[in-house]
Amino acid sequence: MGLWGLAIIIFLLPHMAQMTENFPGFKIRITSKGLELLKLETQKFVEEELGGITMPEMHGMNGNLQYSITDIKIKELNLTADLSFQPVDGLLFDVQNSSITLNFQRRVIYWLFQDQGAINASAEGVYINTTLHLAKDDEGRLKIANVSCDASIAKMKAKFGGTFGRVYDFVATFLTTGMRFILNRKICPALNHAGLVLVNQLLETIPVRAEVDSYIGIDYSLLSDPVVTGTSLDMDFRGMFYDLQNESDILENYSPNPVLNEYNHMIYMALSEYFFDSGLYSYFKGGVFRMHIANERMPKDLEMLLRTTYFGAIMLLNPALLDAPISLEIDVTAAPKSSIKTSGATVAVHAGVRVLLLPAGKSPVQLSSMTMESKLNAKVYMKDKRLAIQLDLRRFKIFSNQSALESLALIPLQAPLKALLQMTIVPLLNNYTKKGVQIPLPDGINLVEDVVKYHEGYITIGANLHFRSGLKELIEKTS
Ligand SMILES: *[C@@H]1O[C@H](CO)[C@@H](O)[C@H](O)[C@H]1NC(C)=O
Ligand SMILES: *[C@@H]1O[C@H](CO)[C@@H](O)[C@H](O)[C@H]1NC(C)=O
Ligand SMILES: *[C@@H]1O[C@H](CO)[C@@H](O)[C@H](O)[C@H]1NC(C)=O
Ligand SMILES: *[C@@H]1O[C@H](CO)[C@@H](O)[C@H](O)[C@H]1NC(C)=O
Ligand SMILES: *[C@@H]1O[C@H](CO)[C@@H](O)[C@H](O)[C@H]1NC(C)=O
Ligand SMILES: *[C@@H]1O[C@H](CO)[C@@H](O)[C@H](O)[C@H]1NC(C)=O
Ligand SMILES: *[C@@H]1O[C@H](CO)[C@@H](O)[C@H](O)[C@H]1NC(C)=O
Ligand SMILES: *[C@@H]1O[C@H](CO)[C@@H](O)[C@H](O)[C@H]1NC(C)=O
Repeated sequence: MGLWGLAIIIFLLPHMAQMTENFPGFKIRITSKGLELLKLETQKFVEEELGGITMPEMHGMNGNLQYSITDIKIKELNLTADLSFQPVDGLLFDVQNSSITLNFQRRVIYWLFQDQGAINASAEGVYINTTLHLAKDDEGRLKIANVSCDASIAKMKAKFGGTFGRVYDFVATFLTTGMRFILNRKICPALNHAGLVLVNQLLETIPVRAEVDSYIGIDYSLLSDPVVTGTSLDMDFRGMFYDLQNESDILENYSPNPVLNEYNHMIYMALSEYFFDSGLYSYFKGGVFRMHIANERMPKDLEMLLRTTYFGAIMLLNPALLDAPISLEIDVTAAPKSSIKTSGATVAVHAGVRVLLLPAGKSPVQLSSMTMESKLNAKVYMKDKRLAIQLDLRRFKIFSNQSALESLALIPLQAPLKALLQMTIVPLLNNYTKKGVQIPLPDGINLVEDVVKYHEGYITIGANLHFRSGLKELIEKTS
C-alpha cells in the first residue's frame, strides 16, 4: 500500500469509528438532589420490608427449664440510613448504628413454677450495608442485577422482669443470642428480595419498546449499562421511533451526543435531533404525511380560488370539465427534518402539491404540479410524564419546478394555501403530537417543575421527581 493509501486510512478511521458508534437519542441523569428524594422513599420502603420479617418460634429445654417463645414481632425500626452513588454501577444503602424493637410472648416452666406474658426486646447497633448493582438486561431494560448485602447486630437486649429475675439472667442471654442470630440472618434475604424482586417489578413498568399510536412505536432500550459517578446516575437510551408496519426500517443516527451538565434539578433528560427525526421518518414511512383534500374536506373559498386560478387551463383542456370536483393532493416527498438551535426547534417539510380535476367515472386530470417548502416551529413541552410537541407554521412557499411563469401564476395561491395548512393540516398534526410520548420512568413517579432548554442539536429538560405514593404501594399496584 502506498503512502496515499495509508493517509486515506488514517484520515478515514476516526470518521468510521464515529459512524459505528451509536449515540443515544435520549438520556436520563439522576442527580444528587434526585438521590435525596430516593433516599427518603428507600428508607421508608426498607423499614416496611424489614418490619415484615417473620421470626420462627423458639422452643426448648435446658435442665429443669422449659421455654417457648412465640409471636415474635418487629414493632419499630429506627434506622439512620443513607443512600449514595457507588461508582461504577451501584447505589449504596447504608444503615448505621440503628435499632430494631421487637415484642414476643414467653412461656417458661422452671421446676413447678410457671411464668408467661409479653416481653419487649431490642436489637441495637444494627449495621446494614447494601449495594444495588444496576445493569441493562437482554431486552435493554434497567434492572437491579444483583445485591451485595452485609448486616450485623451489635447486641440484643430483653427486659425480663417479674419474680424470675435470677433465672432469667441466665436464660435471657441464651434467648437473645438466638434471637439476634436469627434476625441477623433474615435482614439480607429480606433486602435481596426487596431489590431483586420488588424494585425490579417496578422497573418492569418502564416502557422499553412500546406503541405510541397506530403508526409508530418508541424504542427506549438502554444502549449500555447505566453509569454511576460520585454525583450522578446516567442512562443512555436508544431514543428512536420506528414504523409499526416495518420495524426494521430505521433511520441512521448521525446526530451528536447530547451533553448534560446541570445538577440543579433532580432529573435531567436530553433529546437529540435524532429522537425527533426518527419520529418524523417513521410517520413518513407510515404514510401519515399524505393528504388528499377534495369534496367536503375542501374549503369553499379555496375551491373558488383554485377554479379561478386554473380557469384558463381547464378551458384549454376541456370546457366540459369546468364543473368537475377539484382536488388538492399534498404528498410529503421526503421525511421531514428537525433542526434544534439555541433559539428553538424547527421542522422543515418538502412536499409535492398537485391540483386535479376528478370527473365522475373518469380518471383524474392533473392541472398543476408544484413544490411546497415549509418550516414549522416546534415547541417541546411536558404534559404529566409525556413529552408533547406543539407545531406552528412559520414559513411557507410554493413554486413550480417546471416553469418560472407558472410560479408567477401561483402567487395568488400562496396566502390561501398557507392559511389552509395552518388551519387544517397543522391542527391535524398537533392532534397526533399533543398526546405525547411517555418517557422511560416507572409508573407512579411523576415529573414536576420542568424546564425545557434548547441547545445546538439537542433539547434538555430538567425536572423534579414526585412519588405519587410510597414505593411499597407503587410496587403493590404493579403486581
Ligand atoms: C425511634 O425514633 C423516634 C423518633 O426519632 C423516637 O421517638 C423513639 O424513641 C426511637 N425509638 C428507639 C427505640 O430508639
Ligand atoms: C450507637 O448508638 C448508641 C445509642 O443511640 C450510642 O450510645 C453509641 O455511642 C453509638 N455508637 C456508635 C459507634 O456510634
Ligand atoms: C413494651 O413496650 C410497649 C411500648 O413500646 C409498652 O406499652 C409495654 O408496656 C411494654 N411491655 C413490657 C412487658 O415491657
Ligand atoms: C459497604 O460494603 C462495601 C463492599 O461490600 C465496602 O466497600 C464499604 O466500605 C462498606 N461500607 C460501610 C460503611 O461499611
Ligand atoms: C453484580 O452485577 C454487576 C453488573 O452486572 C457485575 O459487574 C458484578 O460482577 C455482579 N456481582 C456479583 C457479585 O454477582
Ligand atoms: C422494511 O424495511 C427494510 C429496510 O428499509 C427493507 O429492506 C424491507 O424491504 C422492508 N420490508 C417491507 C415488508 O417493507
Ligand atoms: C417537479 O415536482 C414534482 C412534484 O414534486 C416531481 O414529481 C418532479 O419530479 C419535479 N420535476 C423536476 C424537474 O424537479
Ligand atoms: C385526533 O386524534 C384522535 C386519535 O388520536 C382522533 O380520534 C380524533 O378524531 C382526532 N381529531 C381530529 C380533529 O383529527
